[in-house]
Amino acid sequence: MKKKVIGYIYSEQKFTKDEKAFLKQAKKKDIDLVLINILNEITEEELKEKVKDCDVVFNNSGEDFAIELIKTIEEMGTKVVEPSKSYYYSEDKWMFYLECEKNKIPTLKTILLSENVNIARKELEEFAHWPVILKRVCGTRGEYVDKADNVKQAVAIMERFWKKGSEKLPIIAQEFVPSHSYRITVIKGVPVQTAIKKSHGWKSTGVYAKRISKFKLDNTLNSIVSKLTKSFGMTVYGVDLLKKGDDWLVLEINCEPAFDFFENQREKIIGQVLDALKLAC
Ligand SMILES: Nc1ncnc2c1ncn2[C@@H]1O[C@H](COP(=O)(O)OP(=O)(O)O)[C@@H](O)[C@H]1O
Ligand SMILES: [Mg+2]
Repeated sequence: MKKKVIGYIYSEQKFTKDEKAFLKQAKKKDIDLVLINILNEITEEELKEKVKDCDVVFNNSGEDFAIELIKTIEEMGTKVVEPSKSYYYSEDKWMFYLECEKNKIPTLKTILLSENVNIARKELEEFAHWPVILKRVCGTRGEYVDKADNVKQAVAIMERFWKKGSEKLPIIAQEFVPSHSYRITVIKGVPVQTAIKKSHGWKSTGVYAKRISKFKLDNTLNSIVSKLTKSFGMTVYGVDLLKKGDDWLVLEINCEPAFDFFENQREKIIGQVLDALKLAC
């Protein structure tokens, strides 16, 4: 059988533990790994040269810019995991909410706010979930996520988001669910890792999370994972859930999940990613 060639997009000054593990596992699995570092400028010609022999390309870079390169590679006729269409839902919190609702995946009550502040005020009053979480439809690392106790605070947050960002992006309002954040990493529909992200404050993204431990999957979680896989069709993803009383609610999914929650599992998971990519060739 011909040796599989897999492209690997990353964005780093030098190899991190991920790159090292990908290289080591690729060697073990007799895969040719073509490294595509997008940290510095890469011309269309250079990209073409890199991907021309690839059976499939995997994106392990969380950079927004990577999405444009993924589209470019797709135009060149090479398959990318995850495909650019996945980002339509994972990078837009409002679209993600709508798709969850459509597919009966339990999620947090959410509304899209008007960009007219006077209308937004009314919408928040009608929504009547206090405190309320405000988020830009696009954002990462909790940078454009904040909590308001009343309409006045909410409007101040909206204006702050608009002033801070280079663009005036739409904002959603969401019920506040005080909870740890529960991460499940999924490869080809199979949960391969769980991690509770605990923190002192209410935000527990990778950056804020203080302590990390595992949790057990139950039938409800397994069913949520299978619905997510079916609805969003991703090969490798991380889902974050919150717990409201006894109910699990899906907060978001990420296309480039971190592999570093437990150092001793990194290599194993990366090996599983490569197995999945081999099948995708
Ligand atoms: N509705 C909410 N209720 C409670 N906590 C929330 C809510 N939304 C977000 N958070 C907290 O804020 C963090 C960042 O929010 P998230 O929606 O994941 O945005 P980002 O894409 O910027 O990471 C989450 O990990 C969670 O801890
Ligand atoms: Mg998040």
